[in-house]
Amino acid sequence: MDKDTVKLAPSILAADFARLGEQVKEAEKAGADRIHVDVMDGHFVPNISMGPVIVQSLRPVTRLPLETHLMISDPDLFLEEFAEAGSDSLLVHWEGNNNLHRTVQRVKALGKRAGVVINPATPASVLEEILPDVDQVLVMTVNPGFGAQHFIHATLPKIRRVREMIEQFKPGCDLAVDGGIDPTTAPLVVEAGANVLVAGSAIFRASKGIAAAMKRLRAAVE
Ligand code: DX5
Ligand code: ZN
Repeated sequence: MDKDTVKLAPSILAADFARLGEQVKEAEKAGADRIHVDVMDGHFVPNISMGPVIVQSLRPVTRLPLETHLMISDPDLFLEEFAEAGSDSLLVHWEGNNNLHRTVQRVKALGKRAGVVINPATPASVLEEILPDVDQVLVMTVNPGFGAQHFIHATLPKIRRVREMIEQFKPGCDLAVDGGIDPTTAPLVVEAGANVLVAGSAIFRASKGIAAAMKRLRAAVE
């Protein structure tokens, strides 16, 4: 991956929710490319996080695209609500969705960017038929549900495979990775072909602050 094209997507799951607006502004000022919003329903994943009201509150705070990662059982029920709240892209999981093609078409009909997410145990091959329809693939590098987990190294060959598929079937499609991304793992995923890095703890929980943490991440992939 061309290092200059690597984008950073800070995940607010690790932010201080009492100062959320402030922290998002800080990330924007430090050069974030988009803001990653993790939505969990306590059913699709064993954790509950945030809903459309957070997107709505953040919309006037930042000009950055708000990317919404839907870790919920029936994403179709909430696409419209998130779109209206101000999400710019809607990322839906392959797992548990019997009608993924329809979901993706609905996202596009709402005028939003569509992304498909695959969990660590899901092979890259499931993307083959849907790839031409999506703007982004998100490869989970941890099992979804929690921040601050350890990066799963076995996902690296899959990232490589997805990069090859993208070059073949959908050049220009973003390849994002999510989970356990820090200055140590970032170079590995970029080398494997990722061009968007989602990072929560490594940005919002870093001891020297958000801007310094983002600088470290960028330096790690240069
Ligand atoms: C996990 C979420 C991630 C999470 C990543 O289910 O999808 O976006 O915030 O957190 P870190 O970067 O701390 O692993
Ligand atoms: Zn996420």
